[in-house]
Amino acid sequence: MTGRNVAIVGATGAVGRTMLSILEGRNFDVSNLRMFASSRSAGSTVETRWGDVVVEDLAISDPTGVDVALFSAGGARSKEFAPRFVDAGAVVIDNSSAFRMEPDVPLVVAGVNDEYANGHSGIIANPNCTTMTLMMAAGPLHAALGLTSMVVSSYQSVSGMGKAAVDELIAQVDSLRSDVDGLMDGSWVDPGSVLYPRPIAFNALPFAGNEAESGYTDEEWKLVNESRKILSIPDLLVEPTCVRVPVAVGHGLSASLRFASPTTPEAAIEILNNAPGIEVWTDKVPTALDSAGIDDVLAGRIRPTLGEPGGLNLWVVGDNLRKGAALNAVQIAELLQ
Ligand SMILES: NC(=O)c1ccc[n+]([C@@H]2O[C@H](COP(=O)([O-])OP(=O)(O)OC[C@H]3O[C@@H](n4cnc5c(N)ncnc54)[C@H](OP(=O)(O)O)[C@@H]3O)[C@@H](O)[C@H]2O)c1
Repeated sequence: MTGRNVAIVGATGAVGRTMLSILEGRNFDVSNLRMFASSRSAGSTVETRWGDVVVEDLAISDPTGVDVALFSAGGARSKEFAPRFVDAGAVVIDNSSAFRMEPDVPLVVAGVNDEYANGHSGIIANPNCTTMTLMMAAGPLHAALGLTSMVVSSYQSVSGMGKAAVDELIAQVDSLRSDVDGLMDGSWVDPGSVLYPRPIAFNALPFAGNEAESGYTDEEWKLVNESRKILSIPDLLVEPTCVRVPVAVGHGLSASLRFASPTTPEAAIEILNNAPGIEVWTDKVPTALDSAGIDDVLAGRIRPTLGEPGGLNLWVVGDNLRKGAALNAVQIAELLQ
């Protein structure tokens, strides 16, 4: 197939910018690139390897001619504009949660359930960044061993909430860093928070997302429902806790996994070493800082379960802006080429 007419919707955001650099880096065959954002950024120019592109106002956009649209401008924009792009003939790969659980919308982790994307026209959903990271390990392990349950705690970076959240973390670090005594004895002065209910700097917030059913957050429900859909295990048992940590980029997850076929860490390492997009580290512990800016999800600390034998405890961490969002969207677009 020849070059595609590609649109990035939400092009000025944390995910949108990463989409551009990934499209450029992977030599995606683009014959024309268009960029969309709000009226705040419309008219600004972005330098790309396909020439300077003027950002267009999504609200007054005409999507005619777009083949593939990568959406990352929030759920409300996806709900309103993705169907218009599809009506104009585009395949939309959507990063928001707007369509993920719609039965006729595939929810695709490239490398795990590619077959769902094949031949699809319309909207294809990109999973939530936390779920995506875990699926890179859980997917191949499930294919080999039959996953039955997961107890998962996430350690999610602030960039999962966009560019503004990184700015908030840094401003709070700047404000609190000179008051080491206050941080140690509790007399610290609240620097003020906009995006989080409590300061995120020098802290961990055990409540990532918004309150939803049964005392769980929407992020935690995404981990439950999206994992079930991606792996096609409607009765998968998932016990999620999502925590926001003062990390710029890189979502980590500690997971306790149980399988129909009991396994060992050695067998799991072999399975993951043969799986795409995941690297097992056995000589040192992979951290969020290690994951930032790279494509592969990193896995480590693969241990046997202590209570009931045959399961695994492990750690995975991945760049939430890359595999967690932009890279996976581009990989889905590549599956359609
Ligand atoms: N960050 C992650 O790790 C991650 C992972 C997976 C999925 N996602 C999803 O991706 C989406 C974007 O996330 P982000 O982190 O890139 O957020 P962000 O940094 O806040 O960027 C938001 C983008 O959306 C655009 N936008 C906002 N309101 C708009 C409007 N009314 N009309 C048109 N464009 C509008 C912004 O344009 P302006 O610059 O003009 O305001 C900007 O380009 C969200 O749906 C998020 O849930 C994020």
